[in-house]
Amino acid sequence: DGELSLSRAMINSSDKIIRKGGSSIFQHAAEGWKINSSLVMEIRKNILQFLDAERDVSVVKSSFKPGDVIHYVLDRRRTLNISRDLHSLLPEVSPMKNRRFKTCAVVGNSGILLKSGCGKEIDSHDFVIRCNLAPVVEFAADVGTKSDFITMNPSVVQRAFGGFRNESDREKFVHRLSMLNDSVLWIPAFMVKGGEKHVEWVNALILKNKLKVRTAYPSLRLIHAVRGYWLTNKVHIKRPSTGLLMYTLATRFCDEIHLYGFWPFPKDLHGKPVKYHYYDDLKYRYFSNASPHRMPLEFKTLYVLHNRGALKLTTGKCI
Ligand code: CTP
Repeated sequence: DGELSLSRAMINSSDKIIRKGGSSIFQHAAEGWKINSSLVMEIRKNILQFLDAERDVSVVKSSFKPGDVIHYVLDRRRTLNISRDLHSLLPEVSPMKNRRFKTCAVVGNSGILLKSGCGKEIDSHDFVIRCNLAPVVEFAADVGTKSDFITMNPSVVQRAFGGFRNESDREKFVHRLSMLNDSVLWIPAFMVKGGEKHVEWVNALILKNKLKVRTAYPSLRLIHAVRGYWLTNKVHIKRPSTGLLMYTLATRFCDEIHLYGFWPFPKDLHGKPVKYHYYDDLKYRYFSNASPHRMPLEFKTLYVLHNRGALKLTTGKCI
């Protein structure tokens, strides 16, 4: 049975498993896990019908000229001007062109990573994808440090770098980016209005400091295509989270995808509190209906895929 069909029934049953099972289920699931390569290939093929991650991971220079006006992907009434700085940072070709890896890690930001001891294992993967410029150095034992691809929502500037209000915020940011060397920095700049000033400041700092980081800005069609794929598979997400987006893109480049730091629940299986992020005190605002994401539904979907050998989900300690 190679076909990927994430029916409601399957998702409900995984829900029951998660509620009933306690930690032993996950431990057991981790021990018995085996890759299902034909399913991996089939998922890659199916996703390719909606998007080509090699292309959609970023717009390229030739897509625009400075001064072009585009409509925001999730707010079509509002527009953005492609500035000179932004244009100069668009890659000539896709930063993921012809890049293929045996094993990849996609690292989410859940507090479940704390005390996991997963740092070494994460860093042992051929390609490591991280989200929202999450700090690593202070958490290296649990999250590792290798970052080949890292995302940055424009809101991160406000949330983690004081809106660049003073020089030390800017220095901290430049230092964080310089640690990335020539990794890919993926900035969803065309989603909604509001972050354009932040994106411009980020671009200016990269140019001024001649940082080597390779900037990428997702294509205008990416988010709709990803949503379309999951909807077709009966996963009713409103707007895919960064983590789900990264898994979906990674299926194009990676034969074996290992997920860490995905746990969108306020408690662990023993009832102990779990922080929303491993590195800050942000609260679980995303579980309200006002949230743009449906992370628990996404998690259940990923759990089903784990059980079928399409990906490996690590939610416990790494041995
Ligand atoms: N994640 C998770 N459980 C959590 C926190 C995060 O599974 N408790 C996963 C989600 O897939 C999320 C990813 O890790 O997308 C990265 O976390 P974060 O930076 O919080 O995600 P965003 O989706 O970017 O959130 P926001 O839209 O608020 O920026």
